Amino acid sequence: MMCDGSIKRLVIVSNRLPFQLHVHNQQVQVNESDGGLVSALKSYLENQSEDYSFDSVLWLGAAEFQEKLWNKFRANSSSSLRYDVEPVFIERKTYNQYYNGFCNATLWPLFHYFPSFVEYDHNTFRSYEDVNRIFAEKIVSLLKPGDFVWVHDYQLMLLPQMIREQFADIPIGFFLHIPFPSYEIFRLLHKPWKEKLVRGLLGADLIGFHTHEYVQHFLKAVQMVCGYDNQFRTIHLPNRIIKAEMFPLGIDFEKFHVTGTTPVIMERRDSIRANFADQKIIFSVDRLDYTKGITHRMLGFEKFLERHPEWKEKVVFILVVVPSRQVISKYTERKKLIEEEIGRINGRYSTLSWQPIIYRYSQLSFTELTAMYTVADVGLITPLRDGMNLVAKEFVACKADTGVLILSELAGAANEMGEALLVNPMDEEEVSSAIVTALTMSENDQRERIAKLKQRLRDYTVVHWMSDFINQIHEVKELQRKQETRYLSKASMSDLVAKFNKSQKRLLLLDYDGTLVGYARHPSLAIPDKRLVELLRLLSTDIRNDITIISGRDSSFLQAWFGDLPVNLVSEHGVGVKLKSTPWTYRTDVEPSWKQIIKPVLEIFARRSPGAFIEEKKYTLVWHYRNVDAELGFIRSRELLDYLHHMVRNSLLHIIDGNKVIEIRIVGNDKGTITLKFLEEHSYDFVVSIGDDKTDEDMFRALGDKGYTIKVGPGPTSAQYYMKGQQDVLELLDELNKTSCPIYTAV
Ligand code: UDP
Ligand code: G6P
Repeated sequence: MMCDGSIKRLVIVSNRLPFQLHVHNQQVQVNESDGGLVSALKSYLENQSEDYSFDSVLWLGAAEFQEKLWNKFRANSSSSLRYDVEPVFIERKTYNQYYNGFCNATLWPLFHYFPSFVEYDHNTFRSYEDVNRIFAEKIVSLLKPGDFVWVHDYQLMLLPQMIREQFADIPIGFFLHIPFPSYEIFRLLHKPWKEKLVRGLLGADLIGFHTHEYVQHFLKAVQMVCGYDNQFRTIHLPNRIIKAEMFPLGIDFEKFHVTGTTPVIMERRDSIRANFADQKIIFSVDRLDYTKGITHRMLGFEKFLERHPEWKEKVVFILVVVPSRQVISKYTERKKLIEEEIGRINGRYSTLSWQPIIYRYSQLSFTELTAMYTVADVGLITPLRDGMNLVAKEFVACKADTGVLILSELAGAANEMGEALLVNPMDEEEVSSAIVTALTMSENDQRERIAKLKQRLRDYTVVHWMSDFINQIHEVKELQRKQETRYLSKASMSDLVAKFNKSQKRLLLLDYDGTLVGYARHPSLAIPDKRLVELLRLLSTDIRNDITIISGRDSSFLQAWFGDLPVNLVSEHGVGVKLKSTPWTYRTDVEPSWKQIIKPVLEIFARRSPGAFIEEKKYTLVWHYRNVDAELGFIRSRELLDYLHHMVRNSLLHIIDGNKVIEIRIVGNDKGTITLKFLEEHSYDFVVSIGDDKTDEDMFRALGDKGYTIKVGPGPTSAQYYMKGQQDVLELLDELNKTSCPIYTAV
């Protein structure tokens, strides 16, 4: 694994520790934990024994045992683990409200698309915050330079930001092991919860998901909840950039693959086979969870028995359910339902010598589990939703050459397992037909599918998954460093001022809103202060300087505030131009009758969005939504964009999705075109352009490397440099002004 010297220790943080302690017969007993998260991380850590890339690994998780017990265990055991474990002790009541409440009765059902199962309770959210804070305090007390903190899963979504507040630069990763739902589902959370969860995650440098779809859903939530834009999965926060990426979790392929030739497992496999000598074995294993689709699966199996009596006594379905989250009512209810269904189906179809469903409710040892994977003819894995589903991958890895996997298309794993028989788990008929197809599939077909599936699992194991994540963390950190160097430093500013000083003909292209003045609730309130007007006046007295205010504002506004200065003014992105002391000229090839068609649409959207307003200029219409509630404003703006794009198709109109504005204007009116015109008509030996919005990107692109390009504020840009805010712009103008020479001053 590639890992540069700067990361020395991996600090894994998850709610679930790899094991829990219990007292049995007065002895401390170690119980291995279940579930995909622990399974994946343990596989990775065990697998890294030969080639350990970190000096050490520390795993923090919630203790479900007393501190006294832990101390006793530590004192008496010589750990064979290749990593240190640090339990986090949490007061029982708080932990229960967090774990059984907000984690597993709110986030879990919601993120798995079970909105009607979601409980909304402010107390459990408070406990969620408390537990995240307890974790944060513990971690902060342990962190040291060279640590990489990797937080896992939905139980700890607030943690990255809590750590970030204490450590501005430490690399923090987050991986979500469950689906990130579509915004239509995510929005059902209370507003402050949504915001805290998203902002919590944004404390990380890299946020990982199993599938492309979950990444897209998350990026949309970030836009809707916080208004942060993204480009190529990079999110531009006000003070840094971070990334959201897809990392489909793999398994320890070899560990499962070799089980087919491991004597103890072969022995177990043979004894199971002997029990069902003349029968095909269908197998499934899941934690007890309503998301796993166990009741639907049984109905699919029942449909198969009903439709295909010829399979009577020739097939058996071994259904293993692993106990999980046993005090939550939805889980206890599910157990009851499953057991009732089993009783009913067995009651209906059993014969004196045959029972179609063999049910086991317990955890399986590795030997038992892999013996089952190896011996089963068909793996029937049909969750209603699943972030990934490792069982499906493990089943395939254990197959020598034949066997068939039936897999739900709603499991994350389905994206990578196209050779499985993919089914809609809700559709009993489809599940039933897939069972028949699986049982009757030719050996050749089985071999081909299994070989392809296995190859993919071998090519992207849990080690690749982890290495990929760590490499990306390095890349993000590198990107952040590069981004930092793009801020106009004191040295680059001196260099710029020196070049300005030496030059004889200078063009300064200055955007107005967001660059020379800050945004206000209404454009009419964003007016220049005395300092700015005075600076522009002083700079413009040097005849070598062509100061150009290049704005989307209309000419009357620019005339009112700057008409008396010997500066160039460009209104509505190029519709109107006033060169120093000459009168305004306007484009004459456009006529604004289109406004009568578009304006009523903008009015409808403004009425539906409290706070939105329309600005009408000579050749431009602008729909402003900066005063609308952030979430509503974003939704409405996307709807309006969609509507307008349909309306203007095949016309000369151009729509700009700007900073809390949507502008509609005639094609060809843009800051790039006017910039090129200035460059063609004069021979400047110094050019600088400064702007903050999407419309300024045209100007930056047109200028390219023919001058300095500076973006004010965060966000993706093609400008060469960044500045933090308007104060920096004024400082730069001040510096330029200091070098202006009186002998060039116009009289
Ligand atoms: N597993 C386990 N004990 C068992 C049965 C299964 O630890 O008795 C493991 C199984 O090998 C797999 C994990 O639990 O690695 C289940 O992961 P999956 O992604 O399928 O589902 P999750 O439980 O995470 O929702
Ligand atoms: C899923 C979750 C994990 C969780 C596991 C077992 O895999 O993504 O975070 O650890 O289920 O659930 P439990 O509640 O027992 O930790």
